[in-house]
Amino acid sequence: MAIQYAELPWWKTGPIYQIYPRSFLDTNSDGVGDLEGIRRKLDYLQDLGVRGIWLSPIYPSPLYDFGYDITNYHDIDPVFGSLETFKLLVREAEARGISLIMDMVLNHTSHLHPWFIESRSSRDNPKRDWYIWKDGRRGPFGKGYPNNWMAAFGGHAWTWDKPTEQYYLHLFTEEQPDLNWRNPEVQEAMLAEMQFWLDLGVKGFRLDVINYLVKDAQFRNNPYHFRMTYPRRHDLQHHQFDRNQPETYEIVHRIRSLMDRYAGASEDTMLVGEVYPDEGVHAPDLAATYIGIGKDLLHLAFDFSTIYTSLTAADLHSVLQTWYGVLLPGAWPCHVLSNHDQSRAASRLCAGADNEAKKRVLAALLLTQRGTPFLYYGEEIGMEDGVIARKDLQDPLGKKYYPFHPGRDRSRTPMQWTGDSAAGFTEGKPWLPINRDFRKRNVEAQQRDPSSLLHWYRDLITLRQEEPALLDGSIEFFETGLQENVLAYVRRKAGSEVQVVLNVSGQTRPNPIRRGGTVLLSTHRKPQGTIEHDTRLAPWECTVYK
Ligand code: NOJ
Ligand code: CA
Repeated sequence: MAIQYAELPWWKTGPIYQIYPRSFLDTNSDGVGDLEGIRRKLDYLQDLGVRGIWLSPIYPSPLYDFGYDITNYHDIDPVFGSLETFKLLVREAEARGISLIMDMVLNHTSHLHPWFIESRSSRDNPKRDWYIWKDGRRGPFGKGYPNNWMAAFGGHAWTWDKPTEQYYLHLFTEEQPDLNWRNPEVQEAMLAEMQFWLDLGVKGFRLDVINYLVKDAQFRNNPYHFRMTYPRRHDLQHHQFDRNQPETYEIVHRIRSLMDRYAGASEDTMLVGEVYPDEGVHAPDLAATYIGIGKDLLHLAFDFSTIYTSLTAADLHSVLQTWYGVLLPGAWPCHVLSNHDQSRAASRLCAGADNEAKKRVLAALLLTQRGTPFLYYGEEIGMEDGVIARKDLQDPLGKKYYPFHPGRDRSRTPMQWTGDSAAGFTEGKPWLPINRDFRKRNVEAQQRDPSSLLHWYRDLITLRQEEPALLDGSIEFFETGLQENVLAYVRRKAGSEVQVVLNVSGQTRPNPIRRGGTVLLSTHRKPQGTIEHDTRLAPWECTVYK
Protein backbone atom coordinates (compact mmCIF):
# COMPACT_ATOMS: atom_id res chain seq x y z
CA MET A 1 0.00 0.00 0.00
CA ALA A 2 1.16 3.52 -0.70
CA ILE A 3 2.72 5.45 2.10
CA GLN A 4 0.18 8.04 3.20
CA TYR A 5 2.28 10.73 4.70
CA ALA A 6 2.87 13.02 1.78
CA GLU A 7 1.13 16.11 3.19
CA LEU A 8 2.34 15.84 6.77
CA PRO A 9 5.63 17.37 7.95
CA TRP A 10 8.29 14.71 8.46
CA TRP A 11 8.18 14.90 12.26
CA LYS A 12 4.55 13.83 12.32
CA THR A 13 5.06 10.88 10.04
CA GLY A 14 7.19 8.41 11.83
CA PRO A 15 9.28 7.57 14.77
CA ILE A 16 12.13 9.81 15.78
CA TYR A 17 15.04 7.70 16.87
CA GLN A 18 17.28 8.97 19.66
CA ILE A 19 20.93 8.04 19.26
CA TYR A 20 23.37 8.31 22.10
CA PRO A 21 26.36 8.73 19.77
CA ARG A 22 29.00 7.43 22.19
CA SER A 23 27.23 4.09 22.15
CA PHE A 24 25.96 3.54 18.62
CA LEU A 25 28.86 2.31 16.49
CA ASP A 26 32.60 2.86 16.80
CA THR A 27 34.51 2.87 13.51
CA ASN A 28 38.05 3.78 14.64
CA SER A 29 38.42 1.33 17.53
CA ASP A 30 38.75 3.91 20.30
CA GLY A 31 35.78 2.34 22.09
CA VAL A 32 33.53 5.37 21.56
CA GLY A 33 30.81 5.57 18.93
CA ASP A 34 31.21 8.19 16.19
CA LEU A 35 29.43 9.97 13.34
CA GLU A 36 30.89 7.66 10.74
CA GLY A 37 29.29 4.81 12.72
CA ILE A 38 25.90 6.48 12.49
CA ARG A 39 26.39 7.08 8.77
CA ARG A 40 27.07 3.39 8.21
CA LYS A 41 23.82 2.48 9.90
CA LEU A 42 21.54 4.81 7.97
CA ASP A 43 20.25 1.95 5.82
CA TYR A 44 19.34 0.06 8.97
CA LEU A 45 17.39 3.07 10.26
CA GLN A 46 15.68 3.66 6.94
CA ASP A 47 14.66 0.05 6.81
CA LEU A 48 13.18 0.34 10.30
CA GLY A 49 11.03 3.24 9.08
CA VAL A 50 12.67 5.98 11.10
CA ARG A 51 11.90 9.52 9.86
CA GLY A 52 14.16 11.53 12.12
CA ILE A 53 17.25 11.12 14.27
CA TRP A 54 17.84 13.04 17.48
CA LEU A 55 21.53 13.07 18.27
CA SER A 56 22.45 13.48 21.92
CA PRO A 57 25.20 16.15 22.16
CA ILE A 58 28.20 15.79 19.86
CA TYR A 59 29.79 19.20 20.52
CA PRO A 60 33.23 19.58 22.10
CA SER A 61 32.86 18.78 25.77
CA PRO A 62 35.13 18.01 28.71
CA LEU A 63 32.51 15.39 29.68
CA TYR A 64 31.63 16.50 33.18
CA ASP A 65 28.09 15.63 32.15
CA PHE A 66 28.84 13.51 29.08
CA GLY A 67 28.27 16.15 26.45
CA TYR A 68 25.62 18.20 28.23
CA ASP A 69 28.50 20.49 29.20
CA ILE A 70 29.56 22.22 25.99
CA THR A 71 32.64 24.33 25.27
CA ASN A 72 31.80 25.20 21.65
CA TYR A 73 28.30 25.18 20.21
CA HIS A 74 29.36 25.26 16.56
CA ASP A 75 31.78 22.40 16.27
CA ILE A 76 31.96 18.62 16.62
CA ASP A 77 33.99 16.95 19.33
CA PRO A 78 36.92 15.23 17.57
CA VAL A 79 35.99 11.96 19.28
CA PHE A 80 32.88 11.90 17.05
CA GLY A 81 34.47 13.17 13.83
CA SER A 82 34.45 16.53 12.10
CA LEU A 83 32.05 19.02 10.58
CA GLU A 84 32.83 17.42 7.23
CA THR A 85 31.61 14.01 8.39
CA PHE A 86 28.61 15.73 9.92
CA LYS A 87 27.65 17.40 6.63
CA LEU A 88 27.93 14.09 4.86
CA LEU A 89 25.73 12.50 7.50
CA VAL A 90 23.04 15.16 7.04
CA ARG A 91 23.10 14.70 3.27
CA GLU A 92 23.01 10.93 3.31
CA ALA A 93 20.27 10.87 5.92
CA GLU A 94 18.11 13.33 3.94
CA ALA A 95 18.60 11.14 0.87
CA ARG A 96 16.92 8.36 2.86
CA GLY A 97 14.06 10.53 4.04
CA ILE A 98 15.57 10.93 7.50
CA SER A 99 15.95 14.37 9.08
CA LEU A 100 18.47 15.19 11.76
CA ILE A 101 17.84 17.07 14.96
CA MET A 102 20.48 18.26 17.37
CA ASP A 103 20.36 18.34 21.14
CA MET A 104 20.58 22.01 22.14
CA VAL A 105 21.68 22.76 25.67
CA LEU A 106 20.62 26.35 26.25
CA ASN A 107 20.37 26.57 30.01
CA HIS A 108 24.07 26.20 30.75
CA THR A 109 27.49 25.84 29.14
CA SER A 110 30.58 24.06 30.35
CA HIS A 111 32.63 25.95 32.94
CA LEU A 112 35.42 25.66 30.33
CA HIS A 113 33.46 27.47 27.62
CA PRO A 114 35.38 30.65 26.66
CA TRP A 115 32.33 32.72 27.63
CA PHE A 116 32.45 31.47 31.19
CA ILE A 117 36.23 31.72 31.40
CA GLU A 118 35.85 35.40 30.51
CA SER A 119 32.87 35.88 32.75
CA ARG A 120 34.65 34.60 35.84
CA SER A 121 37.86 36.51 35.09
CA SER A 122 36.73 39.79 36.66
CA ARG A 123 33.62 41.52 37.91
CA ASP A 124 33.76 44.07 35.11
CA ASN A 125 34.42 41.71 32.25
CA PRO A 126 31.91 42.37 29.42
CA LYS A 127 30.72 38.75 29.72
CA ARG A 128 30.24 38.94 33.50
CA ASP A 129 26.49 39.32 33.10
CA TRP A 130 26.23 36.42 30.63
CA TYR A 131 26.09 34.12 33.67
CA ILE A 132 24.42 34.54 37.04
CA TRP A 133 26.69 35.96 39.72
CA LYS A 134 25.57 36.95 43.22
CA ASP A 135 27.06 38.06 46.50
CA GLY A 136 26.65 35.80 49.50
CA ARG A 137 23.83 36.61 51.87
CA ARG A 138 24.68 37.74 55.38
CA GLY A 139 23.28 35.49 58.10
CA PRO A 140 23.99 34.73 61.77
CA PHE A 141 26.99 32.55 60.81
CA GLY A 142 28.61 34.93 58.37
CA LYS A 143 28.09 34.92 54.63
CA GLY A 144 26.06 32.10 53.12
CA TYR A 145 24.53 31.08 49.81
CA PRO A 146 22.58 33.78 47.96
CA ASN A 147 19.37 31.77 48.43
CA ASN A 148 18.17 28.24 49.15
CA TRP A 149 18.05 26.89 45.58
CA MET A 150 19.18 23.30 45.21
CA ALA A 151 20.74 21.79 42.08
CA ALA A 152 18.94 19.08 40.12
CA PHE A 153 21.66 16.53 40.92
CA GLY A 154 21.72 17.39 44.63
CA GLY A 155 23.67 19.95 46.62
CA HIS A 156 23.41 23.72 46.45
CA ALA A 157 22.90 25.43 43.12
CA TRP A 158 25.56 28.04 43.96
CA THR A 159 29.33 27.71 43.87
CA TRP A 160 31.71 30.22 45.45
CA ASP A 161 34.34 31.56 43.10
CA LYS A 162 37.28 32.80 45.10
CA PRO A 163 39.02 35.12 42.56
CA THR A 164 36.07 37.52 42.27
CA GLU A 165 34.40 36.60 45.58
CA GLN A 166 30.93 35.87 44.28
CA TYR A 167 28.74 32.81 43.79
CA TYR A 168 27.66 31.58 40.37
CA LEU A 169 24.47 29.66 39.71
CA HIS A 170 24.30 26.14 38.27
CA LEU A 171 21.07 24.15 38.27
CA PHE A 172 23.08 21.03 37.39
CA THR A 173 26.73 20.28 38.24
CA GLU A 174 29.16 23.01 39.22
CA GLU A 175 30.87 22.42 35.86
CA GLN A 176 27.65 23.60 34.14
CA PRO A 177 27.16 27.30 34.98
CA ASP A 178 23.74 28.67 34.03
CA LEU A 179 23.53 31.34 31.37
CA ASN A 180 21.68 34.55 32.13
CA TRP A 181 18.80 34.44 29.66
CA ARG A 182 17.58 37.86 30.78
CA ASN A 183 20.60 39.28 28.98
CA PRO A 184 19.71 40.03 25.31
CA GLU A 185 23.31 39.35 24.25
CA VAL A 186 23.01 35.79 25.50
CA GLN A 187 19.80 35.35 23.54
CA GLU A 188 21.41 36.66 20.36
CA ALA A 189 24.50 34.52 20.80
CA MET A 190 22.55 31.31 21.32
CA LEU A 191 20.17 31.97 18.46
CA ALA A 192 23.21 32.43 16.25
CA GLU A 193 24.54 29.04 17.37
CA MET A 194 21.25 27.42 16.41
CA GLN A 195 21.28 29.17 13.08
CA PHE A 196 24.70 27.68 12.41
CA TRP A 197 23.18 24.18 12.44
CA LEU A 198 20.07 25.16 10.52
CA ASP A 199 22.36 26.48 7.78
CA LEU A 200 23.97 23.04 7.65
CA GLY A 201 20.60 21.44 6.98
CA VAL A 202 19.63 20.34 10.47
CA LYS A 203 15.83 20.18 10.71
CA GLY A 204 15.30 20.85 14.37
CA PHE A 205 16.36 20.69 17.97
CA ARG A 206 15.62 18.81 21.12
CA LEU A 207 15.79 21.53 23.73
CA ASP A 208 17.39 20.42 26.95
CA VAL A 209 15.48 21.44 30.15
CA ILE A 210 13.77 24.24 28.28
CA ASN A 211 11.66 25.14 31.31
CA TYR A 212 14.74 26.07 33.36
CA LEU A 213 16.01 28.92 31.18
CA VAL A 214 14.82 32.02 33.01
CA LYS A 215 15.13 32.53 36.78
CA ASP A 216 13.11 34.67 39.15
CA ALA A 217 14.26 38.31 38.82
CA GLN A 218 14.35 38.69 42.62
CA PHE A 219 15.96 35.29 43.31
CA ARG A 220 13.39 34.44 45.98
CA ASN A 221 13.79 31.31 48.09
CA ASN A 222 11.96 28.22 46.92
CA PRO A 223 9.25 26.95 49.28
CA TYR A 224 9.63 23.49 50.85
CA HIS A 225 7.07 20.73 50.76
CA PHE A 226 6.97 17.22 52.09
CA ARG A 227 5.14 15.33 49.41
CA MET A 228 6.50 11.81 48.94
CA THR A 229 7.29 11.07 45.35
CA TYR A 230 8.92 8.36 43.32
CA PRO A 231 11.85 8.26 42.83
CA ARG A 232 12.49 9.82 46.21
CA ARG A 233 13.48 13.44 46.00
CA HIS A 234 16.64 14.71 47.52
CA ASP A 235 15.68 18.29 48.17
CA LEU A 236 12.00 18.48 49.23
CA GLN A 237 11.95 21.79 47.47
CA HIS A 238 9.30 23.03 45.14
CA HIS A 239 11.24 24.74 42.36
CA GLN A 240 8.92 27.67 42.10
CA PHE A 241 11.51 30.36 41.44
CA ASP A 242 14.37 28.68 39.60
CA ARG A 243 12.26 26.89 36.95
CA ASN A 244 9.15 27.59 34.87
CA GLN A 245 9.29 31.38 34.94
CA PRO A 246 6.74 33.06 32.64
CA GLU A 247 9.47 34.91 30.70
CA THR A 248 10.72 31.56 29.40
CA TYR A 249 7.80 31.42 26.97
CA GLU A 250 8.99 34.67 25.36
CA ILE A 251 12.37 33.09 24.69
CA VAL A 252 10.77 29.95 23.32
CA HIS A 253 8.74 32.14 21.04
CA ARG A 254 11.91 33.81 19.73
CA ILE A 255 13.44 30.42 19.03
CA ARG A 256 10.29 29.33 17.26
CA SER A 257 10.40 32.39 15.02
CA LEU A 258 13.93 31.45 13.99
CA MET A 259 12.75 27.93 13.17
CA ASP A 260 9.89 29.21 11.09
CA ARG A 261 12.29 31.24 8.98
CA TYR A 262 13.89 27.92 7.99
CA ALA A 263 10.67 25.94 7.77
CA GLY A 264 9.59 26.39 4.19
CA ALA A 265 6.03 25.72 3.15
CA SER A 266 6.01 22.19 4.51
CA GLU A 267 6.70 23.10 8.17
CA ASP A 268 9.80 20.97 8.04
CA THR A 269 11.67 22.32 11.05
CA MET A 270 10.78 21.11 14.50
CA LEU A 271 11.42 21.85 18.17
CA VAL A 272 10.84 19.28 20.87
CA GLY A 273 11.26 20.41 24.44
CA GLU A 274 12.39 18.53 27.45
CA VAL A 275 10.09 19.99 30.08
CA TYR A 276 11.33 18.62 33.34
CA PRO A 277 9.23 19.24 36.43
CA ASP A 278 10.37 18.58 40.00
CA GLU A 279 12.05 15.20 40.34
CA GLY A 280 9.55 12.38 40.27
CA VAL A 281 6.55 14.60 39.62
CA HIS A 282 4.32 14.03 36.60
CA ALA A 283 3.49 17.29 34.94
CA PRO A 284 1.75 16.74 31.61
CA ASP A 285 -0.13 19.99 32.17
CA LEU A 286 3.17 21.88 32.40
CA ALA A 287 4.57 20.18 29.28
CA ALA A 288 1.39 21.08 27.40
CA THR A 289 1.89 24.79 28.10
CA TYR A 290 5.05 24.75 25.99
CA ILE A 291 3.37 23.40 22.86
CA GLY A 292 2.36 26.05 20.38
CA ILE A 293 -0.98 26.29 18.70
CA GLY A 294 -0.06 27.92 15.46
CA LYS A 295 3.40 29.36 15.36
CA ASP A 296 3.97 30.62 18.86
CA LEU A 297 5.83 27.94 20.86
CA LEU A 298 7.29 24.43 20.51
CA HIS A 299 6.03 21.81 18.05
CA LEU A 300 6.38 19.00 20.59
CA ALA A 301 7.09 18.57 24.29
CA PHE A 302 7.85 15.44 26.26
CA ASP A 303 5.51 14.28 28.96
CA PHE A 304 7.50 11.94 31.20
CA SER A 305 4.46 10.41 32.91
CA THR A 306 5.09 7.17 31.04
CA ILE A 307 8.43 7.01 32.84
CA TYR A 308 6.68 6.79 36.20
CA THR A 309 3.80 4.55 35.25
CA SER A 310 3.37 0.83 35.83
CA LEU A 311 2.48 -1.76 33.23
CA THR A 312 -1.24 -2.09 33.82
CA ALA A 313 -4.06 -1.20 31.48
CA ALA A 314 -5.59 1.16 34.04
CA ASP A 315 -2.36 3.09 34.62
CA LEU A 316 -1.45 3.33 30.95
CA HIS A 317 -4.96 4.45 30.17
CA SER A 318 -4.92 7.10 32.85
CA VAL A 319 -1.51 8.46 31.81
CA LEU A 320 -2.50 8.64 28.14
CA GLN A 321 -5.96 10.09 28.76
CA THR A 322 -4.46 12.75 31.00
CA TRP A 323 -1.87 13.66 28.40
CA TYR A 324 -4.44 13.97 25.60
CA GLY A 325 -6.78 15.81 27.96
CA VAL A 326 -4.33 18.60 28.83
CA LEU A 327 -3.26 19.28 25.24
CA LEU A 328 -4.93 22.25 23.65
CA PRO A 329 -7.01 21.44 20.57
CA GLY A 330 -4.65 21.35 17.60
CA ALA A 331 -1.58 20.43 19.67
CA TRP A 332 0.31 17.39 18.40
CA PRO A 333 1.29 14.84 21.09
CA CYS A 334 4.43 12.76 21.30
CA HIS A 335 5.31 9.73 23.40
CA VAL A 336 8.50 8.45 24.90
CA LEU A 337 9.20 5.32 26.92
CA SER A 338 12.97 5.44 27.28
CA ASN A 339 15.86 7.87 27.03
CA HIS A 340 19.45 8.37 28.15
CA ASP A 341 18.45 9.59 31.63
CA GLN A 342 16.14 6.81 32.73
CA SER A 343 16.13 3.11 33.22
CA ARG A 344 15.05 1.56 29.91
CA ALA A 345 11.35 0.67 29.73
CA ALA A 346 12.43 -2.87 28.79
CA SER A 347 13.84 -3.18 32.30
CA ARG A 348 11.68 -0.70 34.22
CA LEU A 349 8.31 -1.96 33.00
CA CYS A 350 9.04 -5.39 31.58
CA ALA A 351 11.11 -7.09 34.27
CA GLY A 352 10.16 -10.54 35.54
CA ALA A 353 8.04 -13.21 33.91
CA ASP A 354 6.98 -12.82 30.27
CA ASN A 355 9.50 -10.07 29.81
CA GLU A 356 9.72 -10.40 26.00
CA ALA A 357 5.94 -10.49 25.62
CA LYS A 358 5.64 -7.30 27.66
CA LYS A 359 8.07 -5.54 25.33
CA ARG A 360 5.75 -6.30 22.43
CA VAL A 361 2.84 -4.77 24.28
CA LEU A 362 4.82 -1.58 24.88
CA ALA A 363 5.89 -1.40 21.24
CA ALA A 364 2.31 -1.83 20.07
CA LEU A 365 1.17 0.83 22.50
CA LEU A 366 3.84 3.37 21.52
CA LEU A 367 3.34 2.93 17.80
CA THR A 368 -0.45 3.03 17.68
CA GLN A 369 -1.02 6.11 19.83
CA ARG A 370 -1.83 9.58 18.54
CA GLY A 371 1.24 11.69 17.82
CA THR A 372 4.94 11.19 17.26
CA PRO A 373 6.64 8.16 18.81
CA PHE A 374 10.22 8.53 20.05
CA LEU A 375 12.40 5.42 20.06
CA TYR A 376 15.60 5.14 22.04
CA TYR A 377 18.41 3.24 20.29
CA GLY A 378 18.21 -0.48 21.02
CA GLU A 379 14.57 -0.30 22.11
CA GLU A 380 13.67 -2.06 18.87
CA ILE A 381 15.66 -5.14 19.87
CA GLY A 382 14.53 -5.02 23.48
CA MET A 383 17.84 -3.88 24.95
CA GLU A 384 17.77 -3.80 28.71
CA ASP A 385 19.65 -1.82 31.33
CA GLY A 386 23.28 -2.77 31.71
CA VAL A 387 24.60 -3.91 35.03
CA ILE A 388 27.45 -1.56 35.87
CA ALA A 389 29.63 -1.95 38.92
CA ARG A 390 29.91 1.22 41.00
CA LYS A 391 33.63 1.33 40.34
CA ASP A 392 32.98 1.44 36.58
CA LEU A 393 30.39 4.24 36.75
CA GLN A 394 31.09 7.15 34.46
CA ASP A 395 27.98 9.22 35.02
CA PRO A 396 28.61 12.01 37.53
CA LEU A 397 25.06 11.67 38.81
CA GLY A 398 25.73 8.24 40.28
CA LYS A 399 29.45 8.63 40.83
CA LYS A 400 29.71 11.97 42.51
CA TYR A 401 26.50 13.86 43.12
CA TYR A 402 23.84 11.46 44.17
CA PRO A 403 25.32 8.40 45.83
CA PHE A 404 22.00 6.51 46.02
CA HIS A 405 21.40 6.86 42.32
CA PRO A 406 22.42 3.83 40.20
CA GLY A 407 23.80 6.24 37.57
CA ARG A 408 22.47 6.73 34.07
CA ASP A 409 25.14 4.59 32.40
CA ARG A 410 22.85 1.58 32.65
CA SER A 411 20.73 2.90 29.79
CA ARG A 412 23.73 4.13 27.76
CA THR A 413 25.51 0.84 27.06
CA PRO A 414 26.72 0.06 23.52
CA MET A 415 24.27 -0.94 20.82
CA GLN A 416 24.19 -4.69 20.27
CA TRP A 417 24.70 -5.24 16.56
CA THR A 418 26.02 -8.80 16.42
CA GLY A 419 26.84 -11.79 18.59
CA ASP A 420 30.58 -11.33 17.98
CA SER A 421 32.96 -9.94 20.53
CA ALA A 422 31.97 -6.47 21.79
CA ALA A 423 28.63 -6.99 20.00
CA GLY A 424 30.00 -5.58 16.74
CA PHE A 425 30.08 -2.17 18.42
CA THR A 426 33.84 -1.75 18.49
CA GLU A 427 37.10 -3.50 17.84
CA GLY A 428 38.59 -1.70 20.82
CA LYS A 429 37.58 -1.58 24.46
CA PRO A 430 34.04 -0.21 24.73
CA TRP A 431 33.70 2.91 26.91
CA LEU A 432 30.96 1.15 28.88
CA PRO A 433 30.58 -2.61 29.30
CA ILE A 434 28.45 -4.43 26.72
CA ASN A 435 25.28 -5.95 28.18
CA ARG A 436 25.67 -9.59 29.06
CA ASP A 437 22.85 -10.77 26.81
CA PHE A 438 24.42 -9.54 23.55
CA ARG A 439 25.17 -12.99 22.13
CA LYS A 440 21.47 -13.75 22.10
CA ARG A 441 20.09 -10.26 21.76
CA ASN A 442 21.47 -8.41 18.77
CA VAL A 443 20.34 -6.85 15.51
CA GLU A 444 21.84 -9.50 13.29
CA ALA A 445 20.06 -12.37 15.04
CA GLN A 446 16.76 -10.52 15.06
CA GLN A 447 17.01 -9.58 11.41
CA ARG A 448 17.25 -13.28 10.61
CA ASP A 449 14.25 -14.23 12.72
CA PRO A 450 10.88 -13.10 11.32
CA SER A 451 9.26 -13.58 14.72
CA SER A 452 11.71 -11.24 16.48
CA LEU A 453 10.92 -8.04 18.33
CA LEU A 454 12.78 -6.09 15.65
CA HIS A 455 10.36 -7.38 13.01
CA TRP A 456 7.45 -6.53 15.29
CA TYR A 457 8.69 -2.93 15.53
CA ARG A 458 9.22 -2.67 11.82
CA ASP A 459 5.79 -4.08 11.04
CA LEU A 460 4.13 -1.70 13.47
CA ILE A 461 6.00 1.28 12.04
CA THR A 462 5.03 0.30 8.49
CA LEU A 463 1.42 -0.14 9.51
CA ARG A 464 1.40 3.25 11.22
CA GLN A 465 2.58 4.82 7.99
CA GLU A 466 0.08 2.99 5.82
CA GLU A 467 -3.08 3.56 7.84
CA PRO A 468 -4.28 7.16 7.88
CA ALA A 469 -6.25 6.47 11.05
CA LEU A 470 -3.04 5.48 12.84
CA LEU A 471 -1.01 8.28 11.35
CA ASP A 472 -3.18 11.19 12.33
CA GLY A 473 -6.61 9.93 13.30
CA SER A 474 -8.47 10.58 16.55
CA ILE A 475 -8.36 8.17 19.47
CA GLU A 476 -11.07 6.83 21.74
CA PHE A 477 -10.47 4.35 24.53
CA PHE A 478 -12.90 1.56 25.49
CA GLU A 479 -13.44 1.67 29.23
CA THR A 480 -14.60 -1.95 29.20
CA GLY A 481 -11.67 -4.24 29.64
CA LEU A 482 -9.66 -1.94 31.91
CA GLN A 483 -10.77 -3.88 34.98
CA GLU A 484 -9.46 -7.06 33.36
CA ASN A 485 -6.21 -5.36 32.41
CA VAL A 486 -7.04 -5.03 28.75
CA LEU A 487 -6.43 -1.74 26.98
CA ALA A 488 -8.44 -1.20 23.82
CA TYR A 489 -8.96 1.83 21.64
CA VAL A 490 -10.13 2.90 18.27
CA ARG A 491 -8.35 5.31 15.91
CA ARG A 492 -10.54 7.05 13.33
CA LYS A 493 -9.94 9.16 10.29
CA ALA A 494 -12.28 10.10 7.47
CA GLY A 495 -14.50 7.08 7.66
CA SER A 496 -11.67 4.63 8.21
CA GLU A 497 -11.27 2.95 11.57
CA VAL A 498 -8.53 0.90 13.22
CA GLN A 499 -9.00 -0.90 16.52
CA VAL A 500 -6.21 -1.86 18.84
CA VAL A 501 -6.47 -4.32 21.68
CA LEU A 502 -3.68 -5.01 24.15
CA ASN A 503 -3.90 -7.67 26.81
CA VAL A 504 -1.67 -6.20 29.50
CA SER A 505 -1.75 -9.39 31.52
CA GLY A 506 -0.30 -12.86 31.52
CA GLN A 507 -3.78 -14.41 31.62
CA THR A 508 -6.39 -15.21 29.01
CA ARG A 509 -8.90 -12.35 29.01
CA PRO A 510 -12.22 -11.50 27.40
CA ASN A 511 -11.81 -9.51 24.19
CA PRO A 512 -13.67 -6.21 24.55
CA ILE A 513 -13.75 -5.80 20.75
CA ARG A 514 -16.70 -7.76 19.48
CA ARG A 515 -17.23 -6.66 15.93
CA GLY A 516 -15.76 -8.59 13.02
CA GLY A 517 -12.90 -7.17 11.03
CA THR A 518 -9.59 -7.86 9.39
CA VAL A 519 -6.50 -8.55 11.42
CA LEU A 520 -3.83 -6.11 10.29
CA LEU A 521 -1.19 -7.21 12.73
CA SER A 522 -1.11 -9.43 15.75
CA THR A 523 1.19 -11.23 18.13
CA HIS A 524 -1.17 -14.21 18.01
CA ARG A 525 -3.32 -14.18 14.87
CA LYS A 526 -2.45 -14.43 11.25
CA PRO A 527 -3.35 -11.36 9.21
CA GLN A 528 -6.14 -12.55 6.91
CA GLY A 529 -9.55 -11.69 5.50
CA THR A 530 -12.53 -10.88 7.69
CA ILE A 531 -12.69 -13.19 10.66
CA GLU A 532 -15.20 -13.93 13.36
CA HIS A 533 -13.82 -12.41 16.48
CA ASP A 534 -12.57 -14.69 19.09
CA THR A 535 -14.08 -13.60 22.36
CA ARG A 536 -10.86 -14.39 24.19
CA LEU A 537 -7.42 -12.82 24.13
CA ALA A 538 -4.29 -14.84 24.72
CA PRO A 539 -1.91 -13.69 27.49
CA TRP A 540 -0.13 -10.45 26.39
CA GLU A 541 -1.89 -10.55 23.04
CA CYS A 542 -1.69 -7.43 20.89
CA THR A 543 -3.95 -7.24 17.87
CA VAL A 544 -4.72 -4.44 15.46
CA TYR A 545 -7.99 -4.83 13.51
CA LYS A 546 -9.55 -2.92 10.75
C1 NOJ B 1 18.76 16.85 30.76
C2 NOJ B 1 19.57 15.86 30.00
O1 NOJ B 1 18.72 14.94 29.40
C3 NOJ B 1 20.53 15.24 30.98
O2 NOJ B 1 21.22 14.14 30.42
C4 NOJ B 1 21.48 16.30 31.44
O3 NOJ B 1 22.31 15.78 32.46
C5 NOJ B 1 20.74 17.51 31.99
N1 NOJ B 1 19.62 17.90 31.19
C6 NOJ B 1 21.66 18.69 32.09
O4 NOJ B 1 21.96 19.17 30.81
CA1 CA C 1 35.24 6.01 17.66
